[in-house]
Amino acid sequence: MAFITGLAILTLFFSVNILCQDNYDDPFAQAPRHLRRIRTPVESDLYRFFPRECARECRCMPSYPMAMYCDNRKLKYVPNIPAHVRHLYLQVNEIESVPENAFINATLLQEINFSHNKLKSSNIPKGVFGKLKSLFHLRLDHNKLEEVPVPLPNTLERLTLSFNQLTKLPADTIRTLINVTVLDLSNNKLSDGAVKGNHLGKMKSLIQLNLQSNKLKSMPGDLPASLLQLSVENNSISSIPGNYFRKTPNLISLRMAHNKLKQVPYGVFNLSKLMELNLGYNQLSKSFYVSRDLEHLYLNNNHFATLNFTLMCPTADFANPNHLTYLRLEKNKLRGPLNIYTYIYVCFPHLRNFAFGEQDRIPIVET
Ligand SMILES: *[C@@H]1O[C@H](CO)[C@@H](O)[C@H](O)[C@H]1NC(C)=O
Ligand SMILES: *[C@@H]1O[C@H](CO)[C@@H](O)[C@H](O)[C@H]1NC(C)=O
Ligand SMILES: *[C@@H]1O[C@H](CO)[C@@H](O)[C@H](O)[C@H]1NC(C)=O
Ligand SMILES: *[C@@H]1O[C@H](CO)[C@@H](O)[C@H](O)[C@H]1NC(C)=O
Ligand SMILES: *[C@@H]1O[C@H](CO)[C@@H](O)[C@H](O)[C@H]1NC(C)=O
Ligand SMILES: *[C@@H]1O[C@H](CO)[C@@H](O)[C@H](O)[C@H]1NC(C)=O
Repeated sequence: MAFITGLAILTLFFSVNILCQDNYDDPFAQAPRHLRRIRTPVESDLYRFFPRECARECRCMPSYPMAMYCDNRKLKYVPNIPAHVRHLYLQVNEIESVPENAFINATLLQEINFSHNKLKSSNIPKGVFGKLKSLFHLRLDHNKLEEVPVPLPNTLERLTLSFNQLTKLPADTIRTLINVTVLDLSNNKLSDGAVKGNHLGKMKSLIQLNLQSNKLKSMPGDLPASLLQLSVENNSISSIPGNYFRKTPNLISLRMAHNKLKQVPYGVFNLSKLMELNLGYNQLSKSFYVSRDLEHLYLNNNHFATLNFTLMCPTADFANPNHLTYLRLEKNKLRGPLNIYTYIYVCFPHLRNFAFGEQDRIPIVET
């Protein structure tokens, strides 16, 4: 007699205050708190004695005198920037080009937000940003750049280039960016060749690298040991070399959802500091080693028919148990929660949020 198990409709979702990628303080959305610096604490006092000029298209505020706000104004050009300006907000405009002398007076610029404009690489003269010897934060996301504007000042600490049309990275410039801690290259058209041999490994301060939604088919090579957070979500990566993470032993967060992984080497995620591992939306079916400090594991939307807890936690050590608190398993081919329940808390005694959810139908033939 053949029948279909009722698992497809079984939904178990213990969602008490879930700490998950979808709703906690997302590290990829914002720089780590200690990186958000306030650079100019005494400037507002100076302002009382030295009134500042302001471009007529923009707004300047006595309470933040070193900043000029030119955002959301349908501007088609870069306004004149007075010499004292350090923080320049040009986001959400229609600027297509940056003239050669745009920053000629503004040599003290520390931060430029060019996000959501229409910048094209052919309209950015070589070296226009390179001359800014105090620039530490440059946002160029949501533009139409096909290339990274070079050179860039080696003082940069945060560089945002997401949502452009980048197909390559400038190796000579990348290797000079030794102080960049956050590099966002997500939503571009970078392929393996573009990322390979580009000296990302020379960026020895890099903490967070976002390569989400590009065209990668393999893991990016040559990453620096400083890296703590890596996202390669939504690419077409189909494998991870067994010793891949040897050069990045400090990883805390790895996001690889929406790729084409069928299998991973058994011990590949044996990283002593890893706390978050997102492997959702792949094609995994074989259990792998779960390192002791891992807290959040996403295996949803994969092809698991069983979980082998002997493999996942080979040494169930009661004195020193696994730290996993959050596990997503929905949308696999698992048989049922009961046999999973028997072992899962032995393996992961700290588990608090466990999503089994809906599973794909598995026809079971009984004789
Ligand atoms: C630079 O400053 C000079 C002198 O104040 C001014 O005439 C010129 O328009 C400024 N240029 C830009 C691009 O801001
Ligand atoms: C830069 O502009 C974007 C809008 O495109 C905004 O979300 C972001 O907060 C701005 N960043 C800073 C530091 O002003
Ligand atoms: C990089 O950062 C360090 C520490 O903040 C600083 O001393 C150094 O001058 C910076 N290098 C560049 C090129 O800005
Ligand atoms: C994945 O990337 C494509 C472009 O490469 C984009 O259109 C799509 O929205 C992305 N999907 C997710 C889930 O991020
Ligand atoms: C994990 O790494 C530790 C320390 O490097 C090592 O002793 C252990 O054998 C590794 N376990 C697996 C399953 O790779
Ligand atoms: C789990 O894996 C081990 C080692 O490969 C194997 O000996 C054991 O039979 C597996 N257990 C189940 C329930 O599949």
